[in-house]
Amino acid sequence: MIEFTKVSKTFQDSWQALRDISFTVERGEFAFIIGPSGCGKSTVLRMILMDEFPDEGTVRVAEHRSDNMRRADIPRLRRKLGVIFQDFKLLADRTVYENVAFALEVTGASSGLIHKKSMAALNEVGLAHKRHCLPFQLSGGEQQKAAIARALVNDPFLLLADEPTGNVDPAGTLEIMQLLRDINAKGTAVLMATHEQELVKKLPFRILTVEGGRIVRDTPCRLAPRRAAATEGEQLTLS
Ligand SMILES: Nc1ncnc2c1ncn2[C@@H]1O[C@H](COP(=O)(O)OP(=O)(O)O)[C@@H](O)[C@H]1O
Ligand SMILES: [Mg+2]
Repeated sequence: MIEFTKVSKTFQDSWQALRDISFTVERGEFAFIIGPSGCGKSTVLRMILMDEFPDEGTVRVAEHRSDNMRRADIPRLRRKLGVIFQDFKLLADRTVYENVAFALEVTGASSGLIHKKSMAALNEVGLAHKRHCLPFQLSGGEQQKAAIARALVNDPFLLLADEPTGNVDPAGTLEIMQLLRDINAKGTAVLMATHEQELVKKLPFRILTVEGGRIVRDTPCRLAPRRAAATEGEQLTLS
């Protein structure tokens, strides 16, 4: 579903952000990308969004390929992906509901469908009761849940999460991880970049370890196949 083949990327000043990276992520997988700040995690995610392109090698996301992607097709790719960020990126002057609905409005959906899908996404993250709040009235964890609802509203096949717990307290972090795990158990692939090694070690999912722009380790998921789905809703502990 996602395939990086010998991908290298150099930014100005000849700093090489990614060096000869190859990996695949299958439909429905949960994988972490871990490594220290500056190792290239966000660059990997931005290549999946086709926000950056390789200097060498190719990135394939479903039927889209970095070497023959037309600019005009990029929005079509992005509508199939959900993305969440460390700083949430919610619109500050819109309510939680409006932030979620906005992601559907841009697709030209009918108002009835927008309402139905927005409420379903807000219920899924447990935030329907705060739908009339503005982002500043929510905790970090709640803001990230609103961002997750917005990311889910277009039924993405893949959720990209770039340091999603970076601005969330420990209780909120547990809730966010539980939510991502449940979303994955329902069939959406999740690719989460984080530098929080301790957090990652406590979860059973696949880990791609990046150091200095290279993948130095690919640790497989510790769950038996199908077991991931069976854990939906189960209590998660991070202590
Ligand atoms: N647009 C850019 N222009 C110049 N350098 C960049 C750009 N994006 C990333 N880099 C550099 O590439 C390296 C990897 O960055 P990044 O992927 O953001 O790392 P991480 O997310 O692991 O912290 C860093 O040295 C960063 O400064
Ligand atoms: Mg980053």
